[in-house]
Amino acid sequence: MLFRSIISAALCSCISFALSAAAVAAEKTCIDCHKKITSKRVVHAALTQYARMEHGCASCHTNPHAKKKAVLSLAAPVPDLCYMCHDKAKFSKKHIHPPLVGGNCLTCHNPHASDAPRLLTQQIRLVCQNCHPDKTNGKHILGGYGFGDNHPIMGHLDPSRKGQELGCTSCHNPHSSEKKVLLVNDGPDSPANLCHQCHTKITVRP
Ligand code: HEC
Ligand code: HEC
Ligand code: HEC
Ligand code: HEC
Ligand code: HEC
Ligand code: HEC
Ligand code: HEC
Repeated sequence: MLFRSIISAALCSCISFALSAAAVAAEKTCIDCHKKITSKRVVHAALTQYARMEHGCASCHTNPHAKKKAVLSLAAPVPDLCYMCHDKAKFSKKHIHPPLVGGNCLTCHNPHASDAPRLLTQQIRLVCQNCHPDKTNGKHILGGYGFGDNHPIMGHLDPSRKGQELGCTSCHNPHSSEKKVLLVNDGPDSPANLCHQCHTKITVRP
C-alpha cells in the first residue's frame, strides 16, 4: 500500500515520470516492491546469480518503468528470451513435444520462481496429467509388450537417475528427443533399450 501511494504520488506530481521512476527505482530495488516474485521455494538462477537483484531482473526486463504505465518490456519474446541463456539445440531435437512447437515455455514453467522443482507450475506428474490424464495409470507402458499389467509411474526410486523418483520424465524428455515418442532411450526393438535402462534382468520380447 505504501509503495502504491509512493508510485501514484510520483505519477501525479511529476512532469517527467520517466525520471521520477528511475529515482524511485534507485531508492528501492525491484525486489522491495515485487516481493511475491521471489517468495517461493526455488528461485530461478537468472534472478540470483548476479551481484544485485536488479541485474537479474534487467536481463529479461529492459526498463519496465520507463513510461507512465509499467510494461513487461521483455528483452525478447519467449522462447527467444529463454534461449539467450539456455541452449536452443536441447529444445529442437528431431521430435518436438507439441506444447513447445509454439515455443510457449510458460505453459509449464514460471519464469521467476516456484514451489515445485525445476520452476514448474506444478509437480511434474500433475503438469503431464493436465494434458495426458489417460497416461497416469501406467497402462500404456506395458500394453503391447506382453506383460499386461500397469507399470508403476511413481512411488519408487528411479534406478537410472540417482536420488530421483520414478516419473514421466524417467522415460520421456518433456522438451524434445531424437528418439520416437520423446523417449529418453531406444524402444524395445533395440539392444540398448529403454526397459534395460532400469531392468537388467527383464527379458523383453523383441
Ligand atoms: C516503488 C515500487 C516499485 C519499484 C522500485 C519497481 N516496481 Fe515494478 N511495478 C510496481 C508496481 C506498483 C507495478 C504495477 C503497477 C503498474 O503497472 O505501474 C509494477 C509493475 C511492473 C511490471 C509489470 C508490467 C506489466 O505489464 O504487468 C514489471 C515487469 C516490473 N514492474 C518490473 C520492475 C523491475 C525490473 C524493477 C527494478 C528495475 C521494478 N519493477 C521496480 C512497483 C515497483
Ligand atoms: C528469465 C527472465 C526473467 C527474469 C530474470 C525476470 N522476469 Fe519478470 N517476467 C518474465 C516473463 C517472461 C514474464 C511474463 C510472464 C507471463 O507472461 O505470464 C514476466 C512477468 C513479470 C511481471 C508481471 C507479471 C507477474 O508475474 O507479476 C512482473 C511484475 C515481473 N516480471 C517482475 C520481475 C522482477 C521484479 C524481476 C527481478 C526480481 C524479474 N521480473 C525477473 C521474465 C523474467
Ligand atoms: C539471463 C540468463 C537466463 C535466462 C534469460 C533464462 N534462464 Fe533459466 N536458468 C539460468 C541459469 C543460470 C540457470 C541455472 C543453471 C542451469 O540449470 O542451466 C537456469 C535454470 C533454469 C531452469 C532449471 C531450474 C532448476 O531448479 O533446476 C529452468 C526450468 C529454466 N531456467 C527455465 C527458463 C525459462 C523458461 C526461461 C525463459 C522464460 C529462462 N530459463 C531464461 C539462466 C537464464
Ligand atoms: C510440457 C511442459 C514443458 C514445457 C512446455 C517446457 N518445459 Fe522445461 N521442463 C519440463 C519438465 C517436466 C522439466 C523437468 C524434467 C526433469 O527434471 O525430469 C523441465 C526442465 C527444464 C529445465 C531444466 C532441466 C533441463 O532439461 O535442462 C530447463 C532449463 C527448461 N525446462 C527450460 C525450458 C524452456 C526454455 C522451455 C521453452 C522452450 C521449456 N522448458 C518448456 C516441462 C516443460
Ligand atoms: C499443454 C498440454 C501438454 C502438457 C502439459 C504435456 N503435453 Fe505431452 N503432448 C501434448 C500434445 C497436444 C501432444 C500430441 C498429441 C498426443 O499425443 O496426445 C503430446 C504428446 C506427447 C507425447 C507423444 C509424442 C510423440 O512423438 O508421439 C509424449 C510422450 C508426451 N506428450 C509426454 C508428456 C509428458 C511426459 C508431459 C509432462 C512433462 C507432457 N507430455 C505434458 C500436450 C501436452
Ligand atoms: C517406464 C517408462 C515410461 C514411463 C514412466 C512413462 N512412459 Fe509414457 N511411454 C513409454 C513408452 C515405452 C511409450 C511408447 C509406447 C509405444 O510404443 O507406443 C510411451 C508413450 C507415451 C505417450 C504416447 C502414447 C500415444 O498413444 O500416443 C504419451 C502421451 C506418454 N507416454 C505420456 C506419459 C506420461 C504423461 C507419463 C507419466 C504419467 C508417462 N508417459 C510415463 C514409457 C513410459
Ligand atoms: C526409469 C526406470 C524404468 C524403466 C525405463 C522401465 N522400468 Fe519397469 N519398473 C521400474 C521400477 C522402479 C519398477 C518397480 C520396482 C520393481 O518392480 O522392480 C518397475 C516395475 C516393472 C514391472 C513389474 C510391474 C508390476 O506390476 O509389479 C514390469 C513387468 C516392468 N517394470 C517392465 C518394464 C518394461 C517392459 C519396460 C520397458 C518398456 C520397463 N519396465 C521400463 C523402473 C523402470
